[in-house]
Amino acid sequence: MPEWASVNGRFSSIDEATVPINDRGLLFADSVYEVFVAYGGRLWLEEEHYRRLAASLNALGITADLRQIRAWVAETVRQSQLGQALVYLQVTRGVAPRGHLPPQDLRPTVIVTARELRTLSAETHERGVPVITTPETRWARRDVKTTNLLANTLAKRAADAAGAFEALFVNPDHTLNEGSSTNFFLVKQGEVITPPKTHAILPGVSRDAVVELARSEGLKVAERPVSRDELLAADEVFLTGTTTEVLGVVSVDGQKIADGRVGPITQRLCAAFERRREAWLAAFQQQQ
Ligand code: PDD
Repeated sequence: MPEWASVNGRFSSIDEATVPINDRGLLFADSVYEVFVAYGGRLWLEEEHYRRLAASLNALGITADLRQIRAWVAETVRQSQLGQALVYLQVTRGVAPRGHLPPQDLRPTVIVTARELRTLSAETHERGVPVITTPETRWARRDVKTTNLLANTLAKRAADAAGAFEALFVNPDHTLNEGSSTNFFLVKQGEVITPPKTHAILPGVSRDAVVELARSEGLKVAERPVSRDELLAADEVFLTGTTTEVLGVVSVDGQKIADGRVGPITQRLCAAFERRREAWLAAFQQQQ
């Protein structure tokens, strides 16, 4: 059973799962989501993801039963029999005939899928990746994890067309927000710097974990705006994300970062992140 799904607690293979065409998630992107990774059948950084889901639901005024959602997610992962899984959760406002004004008291649609987890290769982590910058064209509440991802997917296509892994969104004042599906950090003279958590970026679960890890490694961390020029002059740049983890960036818009190799602090944080996950997993396995 490699690919499993549920829609409002109806479990099936991914191919058999359906939602009505009047679902507001489809018609208006009136929905929020989370992407988790599961190891040993358990969700990594589970509480952090659910806290952000609650904030996203709250921001859109969608009332949903989080306990029920958590039970459906856990059951989908269990039934998939996948130890390592990519788990997608989407909660839409619900189903109603198309109209901008949603009726009151809709029942949210809860979609869960569990698929085989494919992480980036060790070679990609060792070599690092190129990124490009692209004008910020998204809406103003980027802290809310909505499925309104058209600008993100177009940015990712632009990156791919340029032979890059990711596109970083740049504001008219030349400050940078984040990637299309990642947050970013730079390192300068030993200091680890990343944009602050405002409405301009998604508060990445991996970002927060890396900020915490960097501090516990004794590194100085600053959360402040970063300009494109500053990024180009950085000693190191890296991305963070649930599936990306900690990934070194070796060039921006075709210009090398430092010597064009993944830097030592990036490597250190990447290893620390992996160690934290392994320790978490080992703690569960000991309980069994
Ligand atoms: N993307 N910024 C954006 C715009 C994102 O979509 C994501 C996650 C991140 C990183 O957040 P986290 O560390 O919590 O995964 C930052 C997910 C993985 C996705 O859309 O597939």
